[in-house]
Amino acid sequence: MPESTSTGGATGAQVVAPEPTESVPDTSVDITVEELVDLPRGKMLEVDDVTLRFGGVKALDGVSFHINTGEILGLIGPNGAGKTTCFNVMTGVYQPTSGAVRFMGDPLGKRQKFQITKLGIARTFQNIRLFHNMTALENVLVGADAHHSTGMVSALLRLPKHRAEESEGLDRAFELLKFMGLDRRANELARNLPYGDQRRLEIARALATNPKLLCLDEPAAGFNPAEKVRLMELIQTIRDQGYTVLLIEHDMKLVMGVTDRIVVLEFGKKIAEGLPSEIQDNPAVIAAYLGVDEDAS
Ligand SMILES: Nc1ncnc2c1ncn2[C@@H]1O[C@H](COP(=O)(O)OP(=O)(O)OP(=O)(O)O)[C@@H](O)[C@H]1O
Ligand SMILES: [Mg+2]
Repeated sequence: MPESTSTGGATGAQVVAPEPTESVPDTSVDITVEELVDLPRGKMLEVDDVTLRFGGVKALDGVSFHINTGEILGLIGPNGAGKTTCFNVMTGVYQPTSGAVRFMGDPLGKRQKFQITKLGIARTFQNIRLFHNMTALENVLVGADAHHSTGMVSALLRLPKHRAEESEGLDRAFELLKFMGLDRRANELARNLPYGDQRRLEIARALATNPKLLCLDEPAAGFNPAEKVRLMELIQTIRDQGYTVLLIEHDMKLVMGVTDRIVVLEFGKKIAEGLPSEIQDNPAVIAAYLGVDEDAS
């Protein structure tokens, strides 16, 4: 028999509202945005004490940070700080010299790029990488193919399950092109698209792999200020659709406006991590960006 949870308040007796008191005691507790993001959602990806050496260069030097599910995390830092290398380690391009990357609690280990894509991490590249002789639609379909469950044999035999996946993929590819404002460009060759459309097409292709985590490496590079603002709005919409986003962006003002938290790298080391407002006022970050010696008086 379940235990009674009654506190004896409603046993037939009339319930009388308490007399209003003059001042209601404030029992609210302050909660930071970070706690709010952290508590109910958990960590999607953890970079744990990762070092990566290229010969004598430590491109990453004991870097640790995490990405919470559902957030937009900014990864910033001056040229050569290790931002792209971080993406490369998270997507199986390079194995860390030491340390580990965990995705949904599972170490990536020696998984290859396509296996990591299947797990749910997608990326775009600092220098646009598209299949230039394919149409916009075909580029997105290549992305969709990455998460199909049927293999090469089913494809060659054109088994029904593969055909069903193909048709689903086509619908989704159109949907994604539309979402990125490219549906009217569907049949144009990627190489003929204007620069901004090529950048957006790369994002559409990444989304077509059905990722949980979308990593964008300077997606607004080469955009004018108005285009940048539009892209940042689009990135927020992408997050609102349920994706988690890791964003590398050089424009500090832009990154401050769009991200929930920010991690700052310099010379391969993490020099700061926090809310945009905290990062903005962080002396080490200001020094890194302005190239000022912190110890200089
Ligand atoms: N394949 C490689 N071989 C040797 N050194 C590399 C390689 N990739 C990156 N590096 C070095 O690692 C360091 C970090 O480079 P990375 O490209 O990650 O910087 P970044 O923060 O993305 O810079 P940027 O803002 O210019 O894109 C640099 O010193 C770079 O020269
Ligand atoms: Mg880079």
